[in-house]
Amino acid sequence: MFIVIEGCDGSGKGEQIRRLKSWLEREHVDFVFARDPGATPLGEKIRSVLLNSSDLDICPTAETALFMASRAQLVHDVLAPALNKGLVVITDRYLLSTVIYQGYAVGASDDGIEEMWRIGTCFANHVVPDVTFVLECPFEVAEERLGRRSVKDRMESKDEIYRRKVAEGYLAASELWSSSAHGRIVGIDGTRSPENIAREIEAIVKSMFT
Ligand code: TYD
Repeated sequence: MFIVIEGCDGSGKGEQIRRLKSWLEREHVDFVFARDPGATPLGEKIRSVLLNSSDLDICPTAETALFMASRAQLVHDVLAPALNKGLVVITDRYLLSTVIYQGYAVGASDDGIEEMWRIGTCFANHVVPDVTFVLECPFEVAEERLGRRSVKDRMESKDEIYRRKVAEGYLAASELWSSSAHGRIVGIDGTRSPENIAREIEAIVKSMFT
């Protein structure tokens, strides 16, 4: 089973990943965890270029291709082997991030976004999540949480219009991209208590195990 946790920066994604991992450990479920971008030697180098190089001019197409390249390596080295062994796989972000950050938030057309899904799925060797949980969090709430962080990376430092569009994309994701080709996308109200959110995610994962 392949589970993805998604949400805009400040959506509480990190906390929910920690909770999901410790719940699976308590349930004695063997799982593999990876972050996207990253998790392989090449992926971590690409991640560093994408997030830490504030002085580097990266054009939009190159940015998209770099995220997809990191994911291609991740699928090849980590996800496909783990899924083939029958392990549960959890990733922190996946293709939906590219669709929203590099597509929806920069004003791509519906056709452009569908093309991104198609190309992105090819780059990921057609490894599609069984479920993508989206922590739905209004822009203002996410910003409030993010404001408390002193160090912001290259993506978090993009302008407010862009960050608003990212949050809007995540709020609409489960409605906009609900076809089976995109995998199942489940919207979770990310403004509730971390405990409640974790319970909801655990209940859905449990129902998928049986
Ligand atoms: P993340 O690991 O969530 O950052 P943090 O360590 O701050 O929690 O994500 C890295 C950033 O990369 C985040 O701003 C979203 C962005 N991103 C894209 O723009 N496109 C993508 O395809 C992916 C996977 C991430």
